[in-house]
This record gives sequence, C-alpha cells and structure tokens, in this order.
Amino acid sequence: MTTTPDWIMVGGEGPESYNQQSSYQRALLEAVKGKMTEAVSTNLSLDLISNQFIIADFGCATGPNTFVAVQNIIDAVEEKYHRETGQNPADKIEFQVLFNDFSINDFNTLFQTLPPGRRYCSAGVPGSFFDRVLPKQSFHIGAMSYALHFTSKIPKGIMDRDSPMWNKDMQCTGFNQAVKKAYLDQYSIDTKNLLDARAEELVPGGLMLLSGSCLRDGVKMSETPKGIVMDFIGDALSDLAQQGVIEQEKVDTFKTSFYFAEQSELRQIIEENGKFTIEAFEDIIHANSEFPLDDPKILAISFKAFSGAFISAHFGTEVMKNAFDLVEFKVREEISRLHNAKPGMQYLIVLRKN
Ligand SMILES: C[S@@+](CC[C@H](N)C(=O)[O-])C[C@H]1O[C@@H](n2cnc3c(N)ncnc32)[C@H](O)[C@@H]1O
Repeated sequence: MTTTPDWIMVGGEGPESYNQQSSYQRALLEAVKGKMTEAVSTNLSLDLISNQFIIADFGCATGPNTFVAVQNIIDAVEEKYHRETGQNPADKIEFQVLFNDFSINDFNTLFQTLPPGRRYCSAGVPGSFFDRVLPKQSFHIGAMSYALHFTSKIPKGIMDRDSPMWNKDMQCTGFNQAVKKAYLDQYSIDTKNLLDARAEELVPGGLMLLSGSCLRDGVKMSETPKGIVMDFIGDALSDLAQQGVIEQEKVDTFKTSFYFAEQSELRQIIEENGKFTIEAFEDIIHANSEFPLDDPKILAISFKAFSGAFISAHFGTEVMKNAFDLVEFKVREEISRLHNAKPGMQYLIVLRKN
C-alpha cells in the first residue's frame, strides 16, 4: 500500500488555494472537451450506457477542475446516447461520480462547492490511486487530469550522497542520466500499478481519459518553463540556506515526487503494461498551454498552490512563503529565459480496457 503523504494541494477557497489558482490546469480540460466527446462517441459501446453510469476522477483535488472533467464526460455520454437511441438521456440514465484523492485531501471544499444543478450523485473515495480503491468492474469511465506525473515515493538512491544517483536538485532536471533513470524506473513501477488497479476496477470495454503534461521526446524538464520555475524554487531555498534561515542539509534532503515523462516513455509504459489499448495520444496545443508568463506574481502563486504544500511539509509554512517571494523575484529577473524555453507538451490519452 502507498503511504499517505504529508502534503496536499492548498485547501479551502482562499486567494492562494488550489481551488482559486488552478486555471492553468483547467484550461486543458476546457480545450479537450471536443476531443473527449469524440473519444466517448467512438470508443464507448452503447451497451455500456444503461440505467446507472459511473464515472471516477482520480486525483480530484478540491475542485473546480474535477467538475469540468466530469461534466465533459457526462455531456459526451448523454450526447452519444441521444444521437444513437433518439431518447432523452435525462429520462434513462442516472450518473454517479466517484471523487478520488488522498484521505487528507480537502474533500470538504470539494463537496461544499459541487456545481448547483448537477445531474449526478457524488461520493468520495479516499486512498492512493496506485492501489485498488474501488471494487472490481465498478465504473465505466475514469478520468485523471494533471495527476499522472506523481511517483509514490522518492526514488531509491536519490537521497544517498554516496550513490551515483545522488540528486543535488529538488527535481529531476533531466540532465543527470543516473538520476533520470532512477526517477523513470520508479515512475514506471507506479504507473503500471495504477494501470493494473484501474484495469480491475473498470467494467470490460471501459475507458480511461488521461490529460496532463509530459515532455516532448529529447526535451529536458529544466529546459521547459515549468522546469525552470521549479529550479527557481530550488535556488530560492538555497538562497535561504545561505542567509542562514534554513540549514543547507535540509535543502539537500528536499526532493519532489514528480516525474514528467517524455511522450514515448509514457507510451511505452502503457504498452508494456498491456491492460489497455491506446485509442488516442494527442498533443493538445491551445492558447493557454503554458502558465501565464506576463505576471510573475500570478505565476509564483500558481506554483505555490500545487507545490507549496511539499515545501511547507519539509520546511514549515514561513520558509515556504519566503521561498515563493524569492521565486517571484527570480521570475521577474529572468523572464526572458522563460519566454525562450522549450515548450512542454499537454496531452489527452484515451485508453480502452482490453
Ligand atoms: C495537480 S492536482 C490535479 C487536480 C485536478 N485533477 C486538476 O486537474 O486540477 C493533483 C492531485 O493528485 C492527487 N494525487 C497525487 N498522488 C496521488 C495518489 N497516489 N493517489 C490519489 N491522489 C493523488 C493530489 O493529492 C492532487 O490533489
């Protein structure tokens, strides 16, 4: 079983919460709505659309993005049903939505902000998505958005100064091959566990719709805007160590459990697992596909909303806040580096259970 972490996305609905600062992640879900509709229309058998239709979102956080993902799927299923049967889906289909995340996720905010007028019943499913969290053959379509870049643990060797895999950086920058391999090995194990678990939980013929970020083949994390800002966070923590605010040793032992895979690595992991057919693997290019680089303050707050909790868990909240003040400054100073960075990739992957 995966252990529950000591971090979560910033909860509540305050100005620095994930709920308020995740429009970058939401923009992808809005951009892929048409493609999700097409994926459901083409790949879901009409036989699977009956009285009860169950959707699960894995790594849902606090909303509202999960509501967008779920509504995209409901609209797609209803459209298919109406087109192919001529009947009104509202008279026939009851939707149940299962929201999964770690048990320490702020589910209260999620349930308190459920969209009024929604046409589905809701339930929370606590637990790590690397493990089984639902009964066998219990849902029809699963969604995962911006959650397929986590590992269950920091890879072995990364923290060991005597190992060739020792990583001086807080992230996998992509430049040290031994470190990259250690992250990729851990990521492959975790993602295969995730696919095994979902394959058991999905009904035969069920779909997984995965959206998020990866890297184009041959591009290193630290060459992309996202990777550069992550490096700024590491630099900010080192600055605080030099100022004597925190110990260098504490900075050296801080590592993130993110791995942004290259496109072909992700494809290979899914193919090797063999439980799903890749029906589509689309490179989604849209107007808001990078964090907005024109406002350093907003950029720093967006990163704080999804990665601040890792830093607070290791260093405390005050240090985390100081670090992000420095990040904002670094973004302002080095904005041209961000503008000239290599683009990351956003994807929609459609998987059908074999
Ligand atoms: C960046 S947020 C994405 C939230 C939302 N899906 C979206 O698109 O905005 C990633 C979420 O995945 C969750 N997560 C990460 N690892 C997880 C795991 N092993 N099991 C369940 N949830 C996990 C985190 O707690 C977090 O809420």
